[in-house]
Amino acid sequence: MEKDNLRIAAVGDIHCGKNSHGLIAPFFANINDQADILILCGDLTDYGTPEEAHLFIKELNAVKIPMVGVLGNHDFETGQAEEVTKILNAGGITILDGDTVEILGVGFAGIKGYIGGFGRHSLGAWGEAGIKNIVNEAISEALKLDSALARLRTTHRVAVLHYSPIIGTVHGEPVEIYPFLGNSRLEEPLLRNPVNAVFHGHVHKGTLEGTLMSGTPVYNVAMPLLKAKIPDHPPYRIVEFDLHQKDEKSSI
Ligand SMILES: [Fe+2]
Ligand SMILES: [Fe+2]
Repeated sequence: MEKDNLRIAAVGDIHCGKNSHGLIAPFFANINDQADILILCGDLTDYGTPEEAHLFIKELNAVKIPMVGVLGNHDFETGQAEEVTKILNAGGITILDGDTVEILGVGFAGIKGYIGGFGRHSLGAWGEAGIKNIVNEAISEALKLDSALARLRTTHRVAVLHYSPIIGTVHGEPVEIYPFLGNSRLEEPLLRNPVNAVFHGHVHKGTLEGTLMSGTPVYNVAMPLLKAKIPDHPPYRIVEFDLHQKDEKSSI
């Protein structure tokens, strides 16, 4: 029978470390009843080691719904992101890096993103080569997101990021670190290629929700933030899509 609603659960920044045995699985104990798809918004491991990735997969063993995600900066820490990606993919998580996937009729485009700051105060490609490298990396991630979004042909489309594309979900963090939490260049592709919702992590002490300039909802699903702000709910955000309409609503 065709479904009317699709429930998307999203969380990032689980930071599975070598001592996380048995600590992550309980969060997802009821997820198969609560949601139809699980989105994982990066920083899935703490140091990006293959051991942590294997443990993460083991902890998510009971999750039977489709999983799609991106890596975060922590997943790069030990320079083994390729191996980590392989382990996560083999464990049933479709890791996107400028790629797209269609699950249960919804199209997903995913990218890690990068730092750089917001609006008028964004870092510009000027001066030393190191600065230009940072800006070029931010632009490169935005371009990958742009081309992934442009390939989506589904009625419902979702963007999955680690870094924030807007300042709105960053408020709550020390203002000094805003430029390290995301960048506005990530918003441009999302305005050019509209989506129904954007999910990101990385911003552990920010704000749960914001919007793109177009009004599209942006959900900061960093697990520490969800635990702090919605303590009586399992630490994932659920957004429900009415498959017969173009809009969506958040259930928490
Ligand atoms: Fe994190
Ligand atoms: Fe992060």
